[in-house]
Amino acid sequence: LNWADKPEVYKSYPSNRTVQLPIEVQETKAHISEILHRRKSIREFSSKPLTLTELAFLLWAATGLERVENGYEFRTVPSAGALYPIETYLAVNNVEELEAGIYHYNIQHHALEELNVGNCGDELSHAALDQKMCSDASVVFIWTAIFQRSKWKYLQRAYRYVYLDAGHIAENLAIAAVSINMGSCEVGAFLDDEINSLVGVDGKEESAILLCALGNPR
Ligand SMILES: Cc1cc2nc3c(=O)[nH]c(=O)nc-3n(C[C@H](O)[C@H](O)[C@H](O)COP(=O)(O)O)c2cc1C
Repeated sequence: LNWADKPEVYKSYPSNRTVQLPIEVQETKAHISEILHRRKSIREFSSKPLTLTELAFLLWAATGLERVENGYEFRTVPSAGALYPIETYLAVNNVEELEAGIYHYNIQHHALEELNVGNCGDELSHAALDQKMCSDASVVFIWTAIFQRSKWKYLQRAYRYVYLDAGHIAENLAIAAVSINMGSCEVGAFLDDEINSLVGVDGKEESAILLCALGNPR
């Protein structure tokens, strides 16, 4: 391994407007077995907005910082080699205290970085092959991979681990969503180029690999 070439595990947009997120963890009295029983894909959402605290909890639960050990920062989710190739963007539609638009989750600072303002529900559902849940959801999580983070160590095998990492994050989110009575549905059917251009990534070094529509169930 060439340690001098180790890619950064954090992406950030230092000159963009940021929204600091609350750090309050949403407690639940539900047992894990009950949460697992209740989890199912929800594709219809009510018009009740998510609160910023709920959104912050979901981001933390999906992929937030959790602990420091031997100088390395670890997250709520496992990652092959702790290389964390997955980035999280949000298409915000209906969240209290947050203007509709596209945001990037700055994991290190538990903050949202604003990339574009304006509702993009129609573009998003078009990109997701007209799946209406993408425009009805309070928020759509958009996960991309920065492949080099994992290729630095794992070469070809990185392509296996990157998708497994995304699956772990997605399931963390699904379970956390149920625990606070939200519903969600993963969306793998979408036009890569359209989603990539929505979040401003090149589709080569960094590319969208999975979405998740989330909100209060109808
Ligand atoms: C990787 C992945 C991609 C998926 N893509 C879509 C999708 O594009 N549209 C959709 O309606 N459901 C999608 N789903 C949800 C599955 O259809 C759903 O999980 C499956 O039918 C099992 O139902 P359940 O989640 O309610 O248990 C996806 C699920 C996964 C894990």
